[in-house]
Amino acid sequence: MLRNRLSILRSQFHGNELQVPCGPACKNLTTKECELKQQQAIRGIARDLYDEAPPRIRALQGLRPFICPFDDLIRWIPAKGRMLDIGCGAGLFLGLAGRSRHELRAIGFDADASAIAAAQTMARRYFPNGRIAFQHSAVGDPWPDGPFELVSMIDVLHHIPPPAQRDAIADAYSHVAPDGLFLYKDMADKPYFSAWWNRLHDIVVAKQWIHYRPIGQVQSWLEQAGGQIVQRSTRSMGPYRHEWIIVRRPG
Ligand SMILES: C[S@@+](CC[C@H](N)C(=O)[O-])C[C@H]1O[C@@H](n2cnc3c(N)ncnc32)[C@H](O)[C@@H]1O
Repeated sequence: MLRNRLSILRSQFHGNELQVPCGPACKNLTTKECELKQQQAIRGIARDLYDEAPPRIRALQGLRPFICPFDDLIRWIPAKGRMLDIGCGAGLFLGLAGRSRHELRAIGFDADASAIAAAQTMARRYFPNGRIAFQHSAVGDPWPDGPFELVSMIDVLHHIPPPAQRDAIADAYSHVAPDGLFLYKDMADKPYFSAWWNRLHDIVVAKQWIHYRPIGQVQSWLEQAGGQIVQRSTRSMGPYRHEWIIVRRPG
């Protein structure tokens, strides 16, 4: 209990308060300095959220902001409303959402029971009012009731068998509210060095042979479903290459 309180106090005094878009604390900073401040805040929050988690989860979640561009993705999270995170893992993206969007309600689900147990422990501790919640289920199971102002799917599609990928994208998009957004991100299948680096990463960490789906194909599925592309972007972080699209569902 005391450790819990100390950890929350420490995160407040060490400046891990995440403001997106940046707030008064960034008034005299350049854009680059402000980005760095946000990245530092994200890393600090990732450490705080899991500081009592089992060592493997604590290590993986603490390192995740170094290889995943959460600072680019978090800006698409609405200030309020409802959000769904598909394949949320241990819940880091929703933990960041909850810490930066105090009026948002969100639910995440994942097929990995141990990741969801860590996410639920984190949520009980940091969001005891239940506004950030997690459930253990897979893409093929019944989904939480929508619609949601934001649906996110980060680094999940390459874990889903190819014949089920199009349905997973269609289900995700169908849970977006009119005028809401779908944030789809995955690891890039090019250049080959990055694609193979990530494949080896997943062989070691997830013990899985992954199945890349070119992002252009995902984009065309979403456009055929009526989605409007708001942004398409890429970013390299060390050997990892990321691609994402932000898709609006017309009202
Ligand atoms: C690379 S992790 C990403 C976790 C999280 N989205 C993040 O960015 O931190 C991929 C996640 O997808 C989950 N996953 C894989 N196949 C799934 C499925 N069929 N249904 C739900 N989750 C799945 C895995 O359990 C894993 O937690």
